[in-house]
Amino acid sequence: MDGAQLIPGSEDKTLLRFLTCGSVDDGKSTLIGRLLYDSKLIYEDQLAAIERDSAKYGTTGEEIDLALLVDGLEAERQQGITIDVAYRFFHTPRRSFIVADTPGHEQYTRNMATGASGSDLAVILIDARKGVLIQTKRHSYICSLLGIRHIVLAVNKIDLMGYDQGVYDTILADYMSFADKLGFASITPIPLSAKLGENVTRRSEHTPWYSGPTLVEHLETVDVDTDTVSKPFRFPVQWVNRPNLDFRGFSGTVASGIVRPGDRIAVAASGKTSNIARIVTADGDLTEARAGEAVTLTLTDEVDIARGDVLAPATDRPEVADQFAAHLLWMADEALLPGRPYLMKIGASYVPVRVTALKHKIDVDTLEHFAAKTLALNEIGFCNLSAATPIAFDPYEDNRETGAFILIDRYTNATVGAGMISFALRRAANIHRQDLLVTRAEREELNGHKPVVLWFTGLSGSGKSTIANLVERELHDRGVRSFLLDGDNVRHGLNRDLGFTDEDRVENIRRVGEVAKLFVEAGLVVLTSFISPFRAERRMARELFADGEFLEVFVDTPIEDCIARDPKGLYAKAQRGEIAHFTGISSPYEEPENAEIVLKTAQLDPAQAARLVLEALQARGVI
Ligand code: ADX
Repeated sequence: MDGAQLIPGSEDKTLLRFLTCGSVDDGKSTLIGRLLYDSKLIYEDQLAAIERDSAKYGTTGEEIDLALLVDGLEAERQQGITIDVAYRFFHTPRRSFIVADTPGHEQYTRNMATGASGSDLAVILIDARKGVLIQTKRHSYICSLLGIRHIVLAVNKIDLMGYDQGVYDTILADYMSFADKLGFASITPIPLSAKLGENVTRRSEHTPWYSGPTLVEHLETVDVDTDTVSKPFRFPVQWVNRPNLDFRGFSGTVASGIVRPGDRIAVAASGKTSNIARIVTADGDLTEARAGEAVTLTLTDEVDIARGDVLAPATDRPEVADQFAAHLLWMADEALLPGRPYLMKIGASYVPVRVTALKHKIDVDTLEHFAAKTLALNEIGFCNLSAATPIAFDPYEDNRETGAFILIDRYTNATVGAGMISFALRRAANIHRQDLLVTRAEREELNGHKPVVLWFTGLSGSGKSTIANLVERELHDRGVRSFLLDGDNVRHGLNRDLGFTDEDRVENIRRVGEVAKLFVEAGLVVLTSFISPFRAERRMARELFADGEFLEVFVDTPIEDCIARDPKGLYAKAQRGEIAHFTGISSPYEEPENAEIVLKTAQLDPAQAARLVLEALQARGVI
């Protein structure tokens, strides 16, 4: 999106995107209001309303309360509650601006991250009366993590400290001692009063000791040099445009760099090369396209390219890997579960990924690293990720456009995390698959039946193991090769290192899924008996197998019945608070929605239930 085009009279000016960090109390709304007011972008009727409201509710006496302007826009924005960042446009004769305004509550790291991801500069507000706060440090760290290289340290409300140079110098020294470590390209401190307009657009008479620029002067002239145009050409293919047999184009937005007809390009993942033939747009062909432009490219050769592929210069390609290390900022109320697959969106491509190791969590206040098993809302960690298929990327440090990704929950479609890739992990690079001389078909022939997984799920005490045992006994008697993987047994061996936290249950099911897959490759009928309480992990297990090879068996026993039976006395203990995270009591069970087989044990005895399962296997031609 090019916001500058939305602003009349601003077409030829450069655009600066920046973000403001600080809480409402620091004067953020007032500062943005001041910038809009001074650049005369407030419409007459809005102005009249604010003048009225200022007299009524304002905190500024006779003057206009500029915060009311921004807060008024805020209220409008609240109606479309899904966006947590408001973008405001204004311009001066020298430059156009888009300012990302994020809600000020200090824990709203995720909103800040959203605003920061498109910004070149951050204005960090400090209340001169309070000095550098923990949240000042937090905001600064997140800005550095998100690749913002230029900081304005706006020491606001300096009027309330009598325009005292000593106060300003102390704050500055304090900030520098912290920000030194963060590697910003520039830090520009400015003493100002947003409310009175001192050193915002107008130079203050009260700060003769300050010789630097006003805020607007600085914003107008700062060279942010993060020009994505100067980076290597990257083009994530949004869709393959094939209106008829004679035309095949690749549509998308140039993420970075420049492309021209005749350029030699490669498809990042496959390495296939070709030349750009044409750059097609609705208004005719172009002789070049730059970062930010949406175009359709055609090539001189027929090359296999799909949505999500990345085109790049043949001589300067992005990295391609399926395992990599990244910073991850968690944005969901529900904590990150390492091992659970999330959908990763990078460029135009969507790939299932999981966190394979959380290396450490970062305390954003002290920058200390410490061990963690999960990330909660607004926490930041450094982790290894593994993707289902290789992805093309650049390290975030080199290219913010192609090094950033988001993680999406596969059930709710909500964005749950934002990541910045640091480097590829080479560990899987030299491991290839070994073909086996004995084929799947030969194993099936020897066994005389097809392999399949019967995935029993249900509460503890629901009867999973009892029914699964009866089914296996019958299968064995009929000459079917089988194996029953039972939760209690596997937890004594392979999974003895796992407990019952959400993270451990995810890992429990991941391992069992992988073992079941090996047994299916061996040609066995595999029965698994695990509570497997989460939909996401049952789906993860299902996706390891071919269609029809995985049958989910929901042992549907009301919790009251399980509690009444309580074969191991565990419910009684859990109810006395002696077992933490007990499924159904203090940990959730997510019922299957599309199980192939549902066994309502309130109406069936175990033998009847087992017979239903066997009938289902017969109906599917397994036995
Ligand atoms: S799962 O949730 O990770 O799939 P799994 O089936 O392996 O659980 O193990 C469940 C068995 O462990 C239960 O049948 C019960 O005997 C025992 N158990 C011990 N603690 C718990 C607990 N907190 N929650 C559920 N089951 C528990």
